[in-house]
Amino acid sequence: MISRCLFFFVFGIVFQLSHGIEFNVTKDGKLCLYADLKLTFSVTYEDLDNQTQTAVFALTDDADSTKSTCEPMHSILMLNFGAGHSFTMSFSKIGEGYEADVFSFTYNLGDPVHFPNSKSKDTPTAMGVLDIKNIGMDTCYSCKSEDLIESGDVNITLWDVLIQAFISDGNKSSEISSCPADQPVSSTTAGPNTTTTAAPNATTTLAPNTTTLAPNTTTTTVPTTTPVPTLPVPSTGNYSIRADENGTVCLLANFGLRIGIKGEEMNLDPNRANVSGSCAVNSSELILASKEMTIKFTFTNDTKKFRLHALSISVSTGSGNFSAENSSLNLWETSIGSSYMCNKEQTFNITDALTIYTFSLHVQPFGVNKGVFSTAEECLADGESFLVPIAVGVALLVLILIVLLAYFIGRRRSMATGYQSF
Ligand SMILES: *[C@@H]1O[C@H](CO)[C@@H](O)[C@H](O)[C@H]1NC(C)=O
Ligand SMILES: *[C@@H]1O[C@H](CO)[C@@H](O)[C@H](O)[C@H]1NC(C)=O
Ligand SMILES: *[C@@H]1O[C@H](CO)[C@@H](O)[C@H](O)[C@H]1NC(C)=O
Ligand SMILES: *[C@@H]1O[C@H](CO)[C@@H](O)[C@H](O)[C@H]1NC(C)=O
Ligand SMILES: *[C@@H]1O[C@H](CO)[C@@H](O)[C@H](O)[C@H]1NC(C)=O
Ligand SMILES: *[C@@H]1O[C@H](CO)[C@@H](O)[C@H](O)[C@H]1NC(C)=O
Ligand SMILES: *[C@@H]1O[C@H](CO)[C@@H](O)[C@H](O)[C@H]1NC(C)=O
Ligand SMILES: *[C@@H]1O[C@H](CO)[C@@H](O)[C@H](O)[C@H]1NC(C)=O
Ligand SMILES: *[C@@H]1O[C@H](CO)[C@@H](O)[C@H](O)[C@H]1NC(C)=O
Ligand SMILES: *[C@@H]1O[C@H](CO)[C@@H](O)[C@H](O)[C@H]1NC(C)=O
Ligand SMILES: *[C@@H]1O[C@H](CO)[C@@H](O)[C@H](O)[C@H]1NC(C)=O
Ligand SMILES: *[C@@H]1O[C@H](CO)[C@@H](O)[C@H](O)[C@H]1NC(C)=O
Repeated sequence: MISRCLFFFVFGIVFQLSHGIEFNVTKDGKLCLYADLKLTFSVTYEDLDNQTQTAVFALTDDADSTKSTCEPMHSILMLNFGAGHSFTMSFSKIGEGYEADVFSFTYNLGDPVHFPNSKSKDTPTAMGVLDIKNIGMDTCYSCKSEDLIESGDVNITLWDVLIQAFISDGNKSSEISSCPADQPVSSTTAGPNTTTTAAPNATTTLAPNTTTLAPNTTTTTVPTTTPVPTLPVPSTGNYSIRADENGTVCLLANFGLRIGIKGEEMNLDPNRANVSGSCAVNSSELILASKEMTIKFTFTNDTKKFRLHALSISVSTGSGNFSAENSSLNLWETSIGSSYMCNKEQTFNITDALTIYTFSLHVQPFGVNKGVFSTAEECLADGESFLVPIAVGVALLVLILIVLLAYFIGRRRSMATGYQSF
């Protein structure tokens, strides 16, 4: 199988055989992530007449990969295109190789070109898990076959893909790892009767029913498992987002996270989470993606205060897929220029089916200076916990005084009676 990757290497020339859209992500001037791919999106939405419409469009040439990041263990390809749409793929090093584990697609229903007469002007996000695994280090992943990814209102078709993440020497590799769908139908058994085993299906099916947006949308295929052994307190993750490659930190968030879906609880392991996000004047995002879950926090700045405004999640466990979103939250409200802190465990009901628990929370999504948190505004719960010891202390002090007083009064009396008795 001749792949473009090999072609490039062999001939070292600058023409493309196939016309996907090519992205070179660099770090410190060296190529660290390469992608050449074709993508089309099919999205259903509701128009002003309450009719369901389907928008079909492709990744455009104006797509910009400058928000992509390369880190030692995790890399993110983030493609921003058109009027506020973006597609991301996350890569993680696993064992000897790497994999693409999750994708997210955010689309702007306010874009009249792709979503004419859309009733909603929201920017929903569809997320899910990718099935691109076991790519050797210093190897390009190649897949010419179509990979249809379904996630709720969105179908994404990915094909003619050539990707290499974690490029170590600044040069794209000539080694190819082909996807199963591309591999020639193996004529198994050296018998004359070749039973053609059907080519593996390149269809990655995701959360079957991800209804996106609407204040609290919950979707299920949900584990109805009930009691669970008590989980340990989740470890605290320290997450930061940089405004640009140059490196000014614009969002800081430290917390441990547990989620509960209809009684089933799981902790987010910060060490296995891919971190991505963005900062803008009025809205910042933090996206954490692990093998099991992808969770996006959207913060807004209303000039004086910031708050957690939207939370969307998609979870994939052995017992099923689940996703939920609430984009009318009003949590963690804090003055711009300060950070929000809550050391106590906090519980938030995000939708009927989804609850999140935060531990040792400290977050600042706007106005981060020199990469450190600004003055913290503490949550009520911490305030109470701060007041309680004071109250207890004061009460103890009063008690001690009373006891001392009683002692002295008693002593004086007994001395007095002592004198008399003598
Ligand atoms: C990516 O890098 C290759 C090799 O340097 C170059 O030929 C190609 O034009 C670059 N593509 C883009 C989109 O910058
Ligand atoms: C996605 O694909 C499925 C199966 O091919 C189809 O039933 C569904 O209508 C598609 N959805 C969109 C938004 O195109
Ligand atoms: C669309 O539905 C909403 C409520 O669901 C209703 O108020 C509105 O009149 C409907 N619009 C049309 C054009 O049917
Ligand atoms: C990349 O490959 C070119 C041509 O094979 C070679 O000249 C160059 O030194 C390589 N760069 C690195 C960083 O290995
Ligand atoms: C091939 O296999 C099919 C079913 O497995 C069988 O019906 C057929 O007779 C076989 N043909 C030969 C030539 O072995
Ligand atoms: C491929 O997927 C289609 C639709 O989901 C299914 O009907 C077909 O059996 C699958 N083929 C294989 C080889 O899994
Ligand atoms: C959601 O999923 C359930 C079970 O998989 C299915 O019965 C139902 O039809 C789906 N609903 C929609 C709107 O796709
Ligand atoms: C949406 O969430 C709010 C607050 O989280 C809750 O009061 C409301 O009942 C929810 N609505 C639905 C339809 O679940
Ligand atoms: C996370 O940040 C806290 C301070 O906010 C610090 O005490 C802790 O050591 C950090 N943990 C890691 C793993 O960097
Ligand atoms: C980094 O930022 C500084 C000022 O914030 C600027 O002078 C410098 O040119 C930037 N460097 C790069 C590589 O963007
Ligand atoms: C969340 O919901 C549960 C039951 O639905 C309720 O007992 C609990 O008080 C709620 N928690 C918060 C913080 O609203
Ligand atoms: C918050 O929003 C206001 C108004 O849009 C803007 O002037 C201000 O710079 C923003 N603050 C931060 C820290 O981004």
